[in-house]
Amino acid sequence: MRKKVTIPDLFDKKKKNEKIVMITSYDYPMTQIVSEAEIDIILVGDSLGMVVQGRDSTVPVTMDEMVYHCKCVMRANPSCFVVGDMPFLSYEVSAQEAVKNAGRLMKEGGVDGVKLEGGVRVADKVEAIVKAGIPVMGHIGLTPQSVSLLGGFKVQGKDIDSARKIVEDAIALEQAGVFSIVLECVPSGLAEIITKRVSVPTIGIGAGPYCDGQVLVLHDLLGLFRRFRPKFVKAYIDLYDIILKTLIDYREEVKEGKFPTSEHSFSMNEEVLKTLKEEYLKA
Ligand code: KIV
Repeated sequence: MRKKVTIPDLFDKKKKNEKIVMITSYDYPMTQIVSEAEIDIILVGDSLGMVVQGRDSTVPVTMDEMVYHCKCVMRANPSCFVVGDMPFLSYEVSAQEAVKNAGRLMKEGGVDGVKLEGGVRVADKVEAIVKAGIPVMGHIGLTPQSVSLLGGFKVQGKDIDSARKIVEDAIALEQAGVFSIVLECVPSGLAEIITKRVSVPTIGIGAGPYCDGQVLVLHDLLGLFRRFRPKFVKAYIDLYDIILKTLIDYREEVKEGKFPTSEHSFSMNEEVLKTLKEEYLKA
């Protein structure tokens, strides 16, 4: 089995220009497969609020729910580096609360690091969490927890002022001690500038090909989430249709008496069976 991926491995990849591969995962069975596929980083993302819980945004996701999913993921003992997402309002109020909640994801959830959204505005929280010994991944550009403030799921940093602000966010996060930064929904040219400007690996989602790595939401990549599909998503397979067909096959086989056959049934001693029938089935 591959050895566990570490933060120095991620920096090494940036140095050698080797792409870092990250994917979300939220439970035990999928994490086993993700780990066997030798993906570098798993994000237990608060996107689970939308793709697992069926909510309209990530905003209602709670700390307890994140801890629960982190535990499920870690039970698969993945060799990937695992990052737990800090949900909305679990880190904004004070540095003390941010450290406490980041600590919960690590101590109770068992993850290797945490991720939180924002740049300059959360740099003091990032610093406090890192000082407590917890690795932090930043997340700037489109930050889904602030979707209401941003006016929807839109590309960020298209004009000079907002682009500069995102570069400043990246620099503030680097100075605060993050080990990596997710760049979501920003023009690829801006992502290239940030990737060259900061020493920590950048991971893009809707940020073009120049980032040090890429991340996708697992359910998007597998074609399991149909409510909407952003332009940056590539569905590598349509598992929804495959699972649908499988369930219809099962339904029909049960209805037609084709399942189960003797192959999936248990037998018993003929004499015992005969006695039971005589006792219970003869009028
Ligand atoms: O929650 C999540 O899945 C994320 C990714 C989109 C980066 O934050």
